[in-house]
Amino acid sequence: MGAPRLLEGKKIILGVTGCIAAYKSCYLVRELIGTGAEVRVVATPSAAAFVSPLTLSTLSKNRVIQRVFPEDLNGNLEVDPWHIEYGLWADLLLIAPCSVNTLAKIAHGFADNALTTLVTARRSPMIIAPAADHDMYEYSITQENIDSLRKRGVYVIDAEYGELASGLTGTGRFPEIGKIVDAVYTVISGRGRDLAGWKITVTGGPTYEDIDPVRFIGNRSSGKMGYEIAKAAFTRGAEVTLVSGPSNEYIYPEIKTVKVRSASEMAEAVRANINGDSTLIMSAAVADFKPKEAKPKKIKKEGGEPAPIELTKTEDILTLVTGIAGYTIGFALETDNELANAKRKMKEKGLDAIVLNSLQEPGSGFEYDTNSVTILEKDGTEVKHSLRSKKEIAHLILDTLLQKNQAGLQVGCD
Ligand code: CTP
Repeated sequence: MGAPRLLEGKKIILGVTGCIAAYKSCYLVRELIGTGAEVRVVATPSAAAFVSPLTLSTLSKNRVIQRVFPEDLNGNLEVDPWHIEYGLWADLLLIAPCSVNTLAKIAHGFADNALTTLVTARRSPMIIAPAADHDMYEYSITQENIDSLRKRGVYVIDAEYGELASGLTGTGRFPEIGKIVDAVYTVISGRGRDLAGWKITVTGGPTYEDIDPVRFIGNRSSGKMGYEIAKAAFTRGAEVTLVSGPSNEYIYPEIKTVKVRSASEMAEAVRANINGDSTLIMSAAVADFKPKEAKPKKIKKEGGEPAPIELTKTEDILTLVTGIAGYTIGFALETDNELANAKRKMKEKGLDAIVLNSLQEPGSGFEYDTNSVTILEKDGTEVKHSLRSKKEIAHLILDTLLQKNQAGLQVGCD
């Protein structure tokens, strides 16, 4: 059996407002439904100028509410307290994109259209993803409205910097759909910005140890696990640094990312990015051996049998940095004697916890989007998590940090 979908059975209302990014709400509906959510759309009057309600209705498989007082097929006003029913039904109200106009209205409690009325009637948490042209987004009142909603407990996904529909470059871009879905999962699972104040350094991906300018010794790590941890920690409010070996995974632009190639480059980057206030999560698949010397020129096949490549050990990064970070989590990838090997590594490398990856369970390990792990802590705690998405596993690993803090152990956090 495969892993359950991330938002299976969750009830989400998507509010769509009038700005150019509204066309992307179609992709957002598809993505939310693809992860198992049930989606209903409520649109402001000007949203329809940018995206067809029929498109949103077809994609969401539900009617799109556009008016406070909906009309029947003959154009007669219907008595339909939909806003109360919707407000009770939803696990989450997501307004994406949220125009500066809707932002201003909801920051001040207006209820003058279907969406703003629903905002006042809902019982669920709310996420907004404001998007606008640079000057509209940076306008002082827009920023004050964003702050005011944030202070009231609304989860705000900041707009991104980049090229805008107007042709200007600046802040105001609608975020990647995947980033919005990550925020939805974080809020709907009750986590929110619970890691605000934490400083977390995560490593991910393989390392490449060069043989010559063309070849290297590497491994099959894709970086998915480390990247999911970095994104989950950021979404939960932590200040995150990602030290990444070669990987094609997507990372949010706001996350400080240090790209490295070899184990020794990774060791240097890790050392430069941790201190006693930070937590280190070492999920990278670091090469254990490297060629004694990288040849400056390509090794040619002429001349008969190839010369053997002499190998030497790489530095063990965790052993080098033991005790520097406030809390250190390592990973163990095992094919046999899994628990015993993981416990031994935790002890030998001076770790506070270790995440044991088993390559034996189908769907786990390299290149998959799913994983099954056992989280072992040095106090003897041992929790096994069956096959689930790497996104969920990332959150479960981060949950152990919070539990430590709740138990009174101040780790990696101001
Ligand atoms: N690790 C490290 N530096 C290395 C090798 C591994 O810091 N040179 C870290 C990994 O990032 C991981 C942990 O050590 O967090 C365990 O890695 P793993 O490959 O499972 O174990 P190794 O120590 O390399 O031992 P072996 O390959 O013999 O199982």
